[in-house]
Amino acid sequence: MLNYDREAAHYDETRGGEPRGEAAAAAIAELLPAGAATLLDVACGTGIVTGHISRPGLTVFGADLSAGMARYAATRLEGRVLLANCTALPIATGSLDAVSAIWLLHLIDHVPAMMAEAARVLRPGGTVILTVEKDASHNAEDIGELTLSYRRKEASDDFAAVRDCGARLGLAYAGETAFIGHGQGRTPRKTADAVRSGYFRSALALRDGDADTLAASLDALPAPQERRPDPIYRLIALRRGQRIEGSRSWSSSARERFSASARIRASPTRSPRRP
Ligand SMILES: C[S@@+](CC[C@H](N)C(=O)[O-])C[C@H]1O[C@@H](n2cnc3c(N)ncnc32)[C@H](O)[C@@H]1O
Repeated sequence: MLNYDREAAHYDETRGGEPRGEAAAAAIAELLPAGAATLLDVACGTGIVTGHISRPGLTVFGADLSAGMARYAATRLEGRVLLANCTALPIATGSLDAVSAIWLLHLIDHVPAMMAEAARVLRPGGTVILTVEKDASHNAEDIGELTLSYRRKEASDDFAAVRDCGARLGLAYAGETAFIGHGQGRTPRKTADAVRSGYFRSALALRDGDADTLAASLDALPAPQERRPDPIYRLIALRRGQRIEGSRSWSSSARERFSASARIRASPTRSPRRP
């Protein structure tokens, strides 16, 4: 996995900025249970998505493992950001209406533990909203096709695996939507440069010589300077237990568990870069 503490300063400008954040947030809002009052966006990163999630009556919180990323999120969600691992959330059991995680599952090896933790903090009828098949979203273009055979592992965010894991945890598939990955369409030339510089180290298993071979194939694609279309990312909703109309409000015990000490404060000296 990338070092997100280091990535934080350039994250927003390289991941589609506000348009991508807005598109993902709108997709999350589509899948929220009716009347949801609380949502925790796990792996919120810089908060570029989280900060755009809005609905009347909804309070949105963020959590991330990387202090560098969370510091940026705190500028967007002041007082509502936790520094926490997705597998151990400092949140009361059964207290949230919704949990979301955008672009997390494809990065981690412990998807079942993450999903079990999401199921634990959700109230009955609450919903977990997850991106799946993230890398596969790029397979439609020629660049994705070329890199496919070098992928390091089976996708940990495979739809069927995530759905089946959810079913074992009492999370039933409840629907899905999609959002445009604004700014995520790549050029063969820049992808080749990134392969040579080792940027895809954690995603691609490249043995001696593979990086040069792959980069040369990318350079040889037609129109190497031309950006390919933005990918479409898939977002699914899994609902815990029975469907419940309306929602319970953020309980006082949950508020307490969202302890002041765990919260990240906005850094007065740093602000997120916006493209
Ligand atoms: C690709 S970024 C996605 C950020 C954000 N959701 C977005 O769409 O912009 C992945 C994020 O997952 C966070 N992350 C990785 N492993 C995590 C874990 N075990 N628990 C919580 N966050 C984690 C990283 O720190 C990073 O901020």
